[in-house]
Amino acid sequence: MKLYYNIRKLYTPRGFSARRGAAMGRIEEIHNAAILIRDDGTIEYAGPAEGKPGGLPRMTEIDCRGLVALPGFVDSHTHAVFAGERSLEFTLRAEGRSYQEIAAMGGGIRSSVEHVRAASVEDIVNYSQPFIERALALGTTTMEIKSGYGLSTDSERKLLEAAKLVGERTAMEVVRTYIGAHAVPKDKSQSEYVTEIIEEQLPALHKKAEFCDVFMDEGYFTREETIRICEKAKSLGMKIKLHADELAETSGARTAAELTAFSADHLLKISEDGIRALAASERTIATLLPITALSLRAPFAQARKMIDAGCAVAIATDCNPGSSMSENMQFVVTLGVIGMQMTPAEALTAATLNGAASLDRAATHGSIERNKVADFVLYDIPRLEYLPYHIAVSDVVSVIKRGEIVSGERL
Ligand code: NIG
Ligand code: FE
Repeated sequence: MKLYYNIRKLYTPRGFSARRGAAMGRIEEIHNAAILIRDDGTIEYAGPAEGKPGGLPRMTEIDCRGLVALPGFVDSHTHAVFAGERSLEFTLRAEGRSYQEIAAMGGGIRSSVEHVRAASVEDIVNYSQPFIERALALGTTTMEIKSGYGLSTDSERKLLEAAKLVGERTAMEVVRTYIGAHAVPKDKSQSEYVTEIIEEQLPALHKKAEFCDVFMDEGYFTREETIRICEKAKSLGMKIKLHADELAETSGARTAAELTAFSADHLLKISEDGIRALAASERTIATLLPITALSLRAPFAQARKMIDAGCAVAIATDCNPGSSMSENMQFVVTLGVIGMQMTPAEALTAATLNGAASLDRAATHGSIERNKVADFVLYDIPRLEYLPYHIAVSDVVSVIKRGEIVSGERL
């Protein structure tokens, strides 16, 4: 057993499923807290120090020196394994070009595809691992990583293998998502490629990823194609996520709810009907990606409206070389508060427990409470609100994954 004590304040959402609507704002605040961790890295006790069970043999005690503890971030939407940077597109957007115009000029997802196809698995791991290590240092302890820059069975496999390897070579817990339907490769027609996904890629790759995602949007994949791909993925035992209503409203949110997807992501252009569908869904989390909106100079998603309608909202980085070159969940929380009118408490729930729910891990991750995995971060801050308030500067002191300090000060 291991005891982290002298935690001045511990803040956590509570529960083993997503929090929706008003419940997102309910964060527990415990003064002078202690966390007792079993040898398997799960939590035996988290609460006031005086309430911890006594008479425990052979215990390592770690003095947290009055720091503040929050759950590790669950970054539930990233494309964080890739090869090649796309800062030129960033400059083109600064000059006024849109994401779609840049894609039509040969930039966008297809330009990353060229880099990935030319790279080996080791090249991709070597390129991506520093991003994952930085995410860990910034307080993310679980990260979803999508494929989608290969667009062929072999290259999608390379990305899924690279994602697995970065999880093995770092302390980050990686959850893998296959998104062959991220764009149509240059040499194929739309319908040929959808057939290839259904008949070749999914049968070959379904065991390498837990989730299947589709970029359902104007200029990418239609509702009908999305349903065909997702039904096949489900028949192979995969769980579903969707990129939905980002560039245009194409009934993505409703489709995600109908497919009982774990999340509908982006939602910049969601309709009233889409909000109603997500609010009524027991399963589908509304995952919002504010750094992407910022990078694309698009209005932020309407988090306030979605929470008030009763949706379960998660927030994530969307870390990718095109539309969101950031692995910083703290900055996502800041944008949740400043750009999307969430309270700091709602933004914390969105970045932890609801992110975990969107990865089917709310029973084990996303909050600091008995029987969950001991993933938490110690900060040198006076209170929770200081985290979004101290814009783009990290006050992380130590990052704890399964009870072990894996980044920052050893204490
Ligand atoms: O989530 N929207 C689709 N996919 C990514 C962008 C990928 C890229 O531009 O490389 C996203 O923003
Ligand atoms: Fe994405």
